[in-house]
Amino acid sequence: MNGIYGEYKPVLEEIKNDFQRRIEEYTEQEYQKSGIKIYEHLISRVKSEESMSEKCRRKNLPETPDSALMEMHDSIGLRIVCSFIEDIYTNIRYIKSFPDCRIVDEKDYIRHAKPNGYRSYHMILEVQYPYADLCGNNPGKYYVEIQLRTIAMDSWAALEHKLKYKKNVANQELIIAELKRCADEMASCDVSMQTIRDLITGTEE
Ligand code: GTP
Ligand code: MG
Repeated sequence: MNGIYGEYKPVLEEIKNDFQRRIEEYTEQEYQKSGIKIYEHLISRVKSEESMSEKCRRKNLPETPDSALMEMHDSIGLRIVCSFIEDIYTNIRYIKSFPDCRIVDEKDYIRHAKPNGYRSYHMILEVQYPYADLCGNNPGKYYVEIQLRTIAMDSWAALEHKLKYKKNVANQELIIAELKRCADEMASCDVSMQTIRDLITGTEE
């Protein structure tokens, strides 16, 4: 039985695992160098075929491997959750130095938070992989979405995501404003925690 990824499902799993490995590798390298573990935790997933089909329907695209792999760029997703803001940018520098990768989209929702308060850094990478893609390129071109956040940003996004499912509640405007206030307070704590670390490590006078 073929799902929306067709024959490509195992390739997506392989690429996902390969990226997880690359991130773990540079993290170990950075730890040897600076003694800092530049992420707190890392999650990776191939988007379920059901969610991908649903997303294609929502975007009025046919439910085909072409839509899922070429039009959508988040079939493979990794989320890097960091303790400190600065660690996010250290990760970004390493990711930008990956061979065989081209950054095709980058959104800095940390410096430019979404109006609802959402913060995170998003990157879409186009990667070369030795398995022919749908256009017949070999090595094939595939896409990987990487989201980078602090623990505070991650907690906020998880809670906001849960609350999204409850529609038609009273006090809608108050809830939106309160969520935004929480996001801003958490962002302010992230900045303070970074400053405290800088004071402790002596990078700030
Ligand atoms: P889609 O890929 O269609 O979702 O749209 P996009 O590419 O314009 O989205 P964007 O890069 O802004 O966000 C993609 C992903 O970031 C989502 O699938 C979520 O995981 C996360 N995200 C973005 N905005 C929010 C938000 O307001 N709240 C939460 N909880 N997550 C968000
Ligand atoms: Mg997207």
